[in-house]
Amino acid sequence: MDITSYLPSDLFAGQVAFITGGGSGINLGIAKAFAELGADVGICGRSAERLEGAAAELEGLGATVVAEAADVRDYEALQAALESTRSKLGPVNHLVCGAAGNFPCPAEELSPGGFKAVVDIDLLGSFNACRAAFDQLKDTRGTVLFISAGMSFMPYALQAHVGAAKAGIDQLMRNLALEWGRFGIRSNSVAPGPIKDTEGMQRLGGGGEDVHRKFLSAIPLGRMGEVDDIANAAVFLASPLASYITGTLLIVDGGQNLPGSAPMAQAIAAAVKG
Ligand code: COA
Ligand code: NAP
Repeated sequence: MDITSYLPSDLFAGQVAFITGGGSGINLGIAKAFAELGADVGICGRSAERLEGAAAELEGLGATVVAEAADVRDYEALQAALESTRSKLGPVNHLVCGAAGNFPCPAEELSPGGFKAVVDIDLLGSFNACRAAFDQLKDTRGTVLFISAGMSFMPYALQAHVGAAKAGIDQLMRNLALEWGRFGIRSNSVAPGPIKDTEGMQRLGGGGEDVHRKFLSAIPLGRMGEVDDIANAAVFLASPLASYITGTLLIVDGGQNLPGSAPMAQAIAAAVKG
């Protein structure tokens, strides 16, 4: 989709978006949408090589890019990445907390270390990003967007760790909306449904077309999501079109949540077992 057919290409001109986990997948799609709409972009992740490739793509769309290797669990590394972004691009207007980890595992087999790894990356990592970006967001009266998931509000088999982390993220989102509204900062979440050709879907067994077909019965709109579906929601929530929206979880899943998680959870369990 050419987003500039629907929104002006200078919508975010002179503004800066910082996306954690922006080196791949849905988060890179969001970074690209910001770039296409005129923003300069900061991204972080653990793999410098992956960030380098993503930065080249974003520069190809006209953005000036700062790409810094930082693990969101390492507060000082994240602070340094955000400082570097401020000094090279200016203060951050839009923070997207997208870095996450996932693997399917039955709760009774999950180690405390496995549970902690996901909660640390998703929840603590999101708090770290918000905390480290606060001064910049206060200066710009900016926005925060959390990348949540259906597991936040529906229990999924094999996803106890992810559900706990994403539910925590959405409550953090509401708290920040409440506390930071007085600084003009808006805070919202997007919960993607199953998005095709992504690492997250691959990990839940949804890599191939045959598995997609099994998933479709769980999705009222009858198709897998696209990265662009999430990017479009992200830029809408960051834009002045959403200037009175804060504390909201926007579900972008083709209606997949409506029958509850059971059909999707069964499809995932079947796909993971092979
Ligand atoms: N099943 C069960 N437990 C697992 C696991 C799996 N597939 N993969 C990792 N773990 C456990 C490990 O055993 C370890 O627990 P322990 O300390 O009790 O032994 C813990 O998780 C941490 O593992 P480690 O490999 O050290 O974590 P990491 O910090 O290097 O990586 C992950 C984090 C595990 C989330 C990894 O999958 C990752 O880097 N994911 C990022 C990409 C991703 O998940 N994308 C999809 C986003 S939706
Ligand atoms: P992805 O490509 O693996 O994206 C995750 C990104 O986070 C990667 O770029 C990864 O880069 C980075 N990351 C992981 N751990 C990190 C850490 N400790 N510190 C910094 N960066 C880290 O997966 P995706 O499927 O596109 O998922 C993106 C987001 O969408 C996630 O928040 C996920 O929960 C959410 N989501 C996805 C789906 C889906 O269908 N795919 C559905 C619902 C929600 P490095 O490995 O280089 O660090």
